[in-house]
Amino acid sequence: MKHIPVLLDSVLDALGDISGRRIVDCTFGAGGYSRAFLSRGATVVAFDRDPNVVTDAEAVRAEYGDRFTFVPRAFSHIADLDEKFDAVVFDLGISSMQIDTPERGFSFRANAPLSMRMSDDGPTAAQLIEQLSVSDLANILRDYGDVNRAGILARAMKDARPQTTFALRDLIRNPRDVAPVFQALRIAVNDEMGEVKRALAAVPDLLVAGGKCICVTFHSLEDRLVKNIMRRWTAIPGDPRLPVVKAAQFVPIKTVTPSMSEVKNNPRSRSAHMRGVIKSY
Ligand SMILES: C[S@@+](CC[C@H](N)C(=O)[O-])C[C@H]1O[C@@H](n2cnc3c(N)ncnc32)[C@H](O)[C@@H]1O
Repeated sequence: MKHIPVLLDSVLDALGDISGRRIVDCTFGAGGYSRAFLSRGATVVAFDRDPNVVTDAEAVRAEYGDRFTFVPRAFSHIADLDEKFDAVVFDLGISSMQIDTPERGFSFRANAPLSMRMSDDGPTAAQLIEQLSVSDLANILRDYGDVNRAGILARAMKDARPQTTFALRDLIRNPRDVAPVFQALRIAVNDEMGEVKRALAAVPDLLVAGGKCICVTFHSLEDRLVKNIMRRWTAIPGDPRLPVVKAAQFVPIKTVTPSMSEVKNNPRSRSAHMRGVIKSY
C-alpha cells in the first residue's frame, strides 16, 4: 500500500510560507512531505535509514535537482549537518510500505522471518531475543509495550527462540498483548527512542532564529518523549525567585491531532499528534 502522508496539511500550516526556506525532512519515507515542501519552493535535505526508499529519493532528485539532497542514514546524523535550517521535521514511526511488506517482519498478520529492522544494520528481532537476558527482554516488553507478566513471556521467548512472526505470535497467550509485544520489539530493534533523543538534542543548534521543529508522533511513548523535550525547551530557564527571568528559547506551536475525516480516509493516522516549537532567538 502506498504511504498516505499523515497530518501533512497541519504541518504545512505550521511551517507557513516556505518558499526559499531550507528544511530537513528527517523521515523521507515515500517522500510525501519532501515533495510537498519542494513543490512550495523549499530546499530539502531528507534522511531515511531504509534502503528501500532510495529509488523514490532518486526520483525526487531527478524532478527537483539541487534543491533536494537525500542522506541514506539514521536521522540522529542530523547532528553532523554544519549549516543552519529554517525547519526540522519528523514524521516518526514506520511507513505503510514497511508494515505492508511481510518479509520485513513488522506485521503479526503475515508469517515471515522475525526481522523488524528499518535499515540493514544491527540485530534483527530474532537475534535480539537470543542476545538479551531474560530481565532485559522483560524490561523492553514492559517499558515499550506495557505488557503484563513480561518476565514470564520473556522467559518463554528466550526458551523458544522464535525465528518467525507467527512463532512469536503463537507464544503470546493473551491476544491483546500481540500488538504491544511486536511494537516493543520494533522500538528496541530500531532504537527508536534513542534516535529521537539524539536527533532532538541536535535541533536547537541547527535552527536559525525563527526556525521551527515539527514532530508527528504515533504512539504514546514517543509522544511523551517529544512532549517532555519540547516542554523543557519552552520552559523559562533560571531561578524562578530571581526578578529578571530570561525568555525561553522556544515557543510552542499548538498541538494538532487528525480530523475525523483524515482518520476515516487513513485509519493509520488515528493515533497521530503533531507537536512543534519555534526558536525565538
Ligand atoms: C511515517 S514514515 C514517513 C513518511 C513520509 N513523511 C511521507 O510522507 O512519505 C517514517 C519513515 O521514517 C524512517 N525512519 C524512522 N526512524 C528513522 C531514523 N531513526 N532514521 C532515519 N529514518 C527513520 C522510516 O524508515 C520510514 O521510512
